[in-house]
Amino acid sequence: MKKIIEYIALIEEELAKISPTQEPKELYQPISYMLALGGKRIRPALLLLSNNLFGGKDENAIHAALAVEIFHNFTLLHDDIMDDAPLRRGQKTVYKKWGGNIAILAGDVMFVNSLQLLTKTPTNQLSNVLTLFNATAVQVCEGQQYDMNFEQQSDVSIDDYLNMIELKTAVLLAASLKMGALIGGTSEDDANHLYEFGKNLGISFQLMDDILDLYGDPEKFGKQVGGDILANKKTYLLLKAQELATGSLKKELEFCLGSTALKNEAKVEKVKAIFDQLNIKKLATDEMNLFYNSALSHLDSIDIDLEKKKPFEDFAKSIMHREQ
Ligand code: IPE
Ligand code: IPE
Ligand code: MG
Ligand code: MG
Ligand code: MG
Repeated sequence: MKKIIEYIALIEEELAKISPTQEPKELYQPISYMLALGGKRIRPALLLLSNNLFGGKDENAIHAALAVEIFHNFTLLHDDIMDDAPLRRGQKTVYKKWGGNIAILAGDVMFVNSLQLLTKTPTNQLSNVLTLFNATAVQVCEGQQYDMNFEQQSDVSIDDYLNMIELKTAVLLAASLKMGALIGGTSEDDANHLYEFGKNLGISFQLMDDILDLYGDPEKFGKQVGGDILANKKTYLLLKAQELATGSLKKELEFCLGSTALKNEAKVEKVKAIFDQLNIKKLATDEMNLFYNSALSHLDSIDIDLEKKKPFEDFAKSIMHREQ
């Protein structure tokens, strides 16, 4: 069995091969730029790992693995427009570098490219894989819409938030694992356990993303620190703070959130200071760990040697200790 770093190296090698050098360059250059920026390549690595768990060959799953990575990168291109984000993976976002129109169109091509790659999946599993992929892509859009709706909504509950992050983030991790399992030829039961493992891991992954958004090291995080506060995102951190704050602290929090007079940095600092008084980072980390542990219990349920499941556990652990 290959190690995770070997899978990631394989993905990088294959991505470099398919980076388009076509005309018009105004369309293709941003795509190459985005794909060359790096990224953790978590989704394709999980797909290949899961294919391998059931004895599948890499060459049967590599196209689907590239498809999920390119799809993911497409969602990031459009997400950065929606979130008005200046930085991605430590560099200017495509949206800030080339403008919204190019980011939209480059993203569209990437979405089509992901489907083109997916259709290279062996025919015995093509229909299952394509059906899952398409349903997942629609769910991601639903999650993104809830995420935007919540920016303007004042009655968002923690359950609403968890449903939103399941859609925008977790189902793609889950589907990547299930697609790998299907291509590898496993039973529906085990494929579903892997799906649930990925879904819970994905929820904890997004909780971590929301924590890093405020508490990450700006040098390592690669995105604008405090971006979620500036975009009025209803993250777990903010919802929990709104639930717990009382009296003058509540007033201060609402004042900061609603203020147009405060400069960006001051706003982030003030909200962060309020979060710190309420112990929000710890509470969000506890919530994240609940989903992480639930992910591991689904892994336990798969009827396969412990030793073969270890790389999933190790990988999940490394994902939860990331700084970007
Ligand atoms: C960022 O995903 C978007 C989220 C779902 C949180 P990643 O954190 O996997 O981004 P890259 O691909 O490694 O840059
Ligand atoms: C993004 O969530 C989820 C998708 C792109 C579908 P975020 O907006 O939190 O992701 P980042 O933080 O910009 O990577
Ligand atoms: Mg974003
Ligand atoms: Mg977003
Ligand atoms: Mg984020």
